[in-house]
Amino acid sequence: MWTSLFLLLVLSDLLGEALYTEKEHVYVNVRKTWLDAQKYCREHHTDLLSINSKYEDGNLSLSWTNKSLPESWIGLHLDDSDSLRWSGGKIMSYTQLTNDEKMKAVKCGTKSTQGWHLKNCSIKATFNCFQTKVVLVKENKTWEKAMEHCHQLGKTLVNLQTEGSVVKTLQSSREAQTNHLWINLRYLSNNWLWVMQRGHLERKIFAAGRGKTMPQCPAWNDHCGVLSLEEHDFKSWDCAKKLNFLCN
Ligand SMILES: *[C@@H]1O[C@H](CO)[C@@H](O)[C@H](O)[C@H]1NC(C)=O
Ligand SMILES: *[C@@H]1O[C@H](CO)[C@@H](O)[C@H](O)[C@H]1NC(C)=O
Ligand SMILES: *[C@@H]1O[C@H](CO)[C@@H](O)[C@H](O)[C@H]1NC(C)=O
Ligand SMILES: *[C@@H]1O[C@H](CO)[C@@H](O)[C@H](O)[C@H]1NC(C)=O
Repeated sequence: MWTSLFLLLVLSDLLGEALYTEKEHVYVNVRKTWLDAQKYCREHHTDLLSINSKYEDGNLSLSWTNKSLPESWIGLHLDDSDSLRWSGGKIMSYTQLTNDEKMKAVKCGTKSTQGWHLKNCSIKATFNCFQTKVVLVKENKTWEKAMEHCHQLGKTLVNLQTEGSVVKTLQSSREAQTNHLWINLRYLSNNWLWVMQRGHLERKIFAAGRGKTMPQCPAWNDHCGVLSLEEHDFKSWDCAKKLNFLCN
């Protein structure tokens, strides 16, 4: 237990507070429920759109007006404990929701030229995804140092929760110098977890067919996850080994 807590703190420090990730806005002109829109974004892009600062919102609003985009889903939603989060796990800090909107009983977020709104998640609306660029870093580093390096780029080690992202990652890994690449997977509190935002971990959701061979009780030092370029699968690996890695 102590080890897990310690690791959590180290990870929180490495991830920092204000991650700015360069992302491309993708508007999808197909009507879906919020959950189906999320699924689509995760399969074809990175995730439903999150908006983390007034700069991001300002730039988006400009292109929104420019492209005459209608009110459409963004990644905002009320979780089971009624906290407003972005799809992907980050707690909402910057907001354009008015207090009236926050009082509503419905749980999924949209953006229009007028601001952000909460709507019934079952409504079908067009939606907004974002896409981040996966960067292969051709340097050999330990898992912790690799995470630190990604952080300096305003990114994190790549998170491969969907089939789409694994395929895209394999495509951008052709020039890798090592047969295994660090990914954002850690063994903590007896579970393999994707490391999300500051202090927030998500239980494993392995992409179709992958991760099945991850050991339930890995050796004490094999507590980090890699993507094997030969087997196209995830494996547990010694965190102190030095490998190339992927940030996004
Ligand atoms: C767009 O983003 C840039 C860089 O983050 C920022 O300097 C600029 O003020 C933003 N534009 C608006 C309208 O907020
Ligand atoms: C909006 O449109 C104008 C004129 O067509 C263009 O100059 C500007 O770059 C566009 N801004 C954005 C954020 O798309
Ligand atoms: C949301 O819409 C569905 C389907 O129209 C409806 O059954 C449900 O009661 C609505 N939920 C809320 C909270 O309004
Ligand atoms: C990283 O390790 C691989 C395999 O050991 C090696 O071929 C490569 O040259 C190393 N890269 C750097 C930048 O040292």
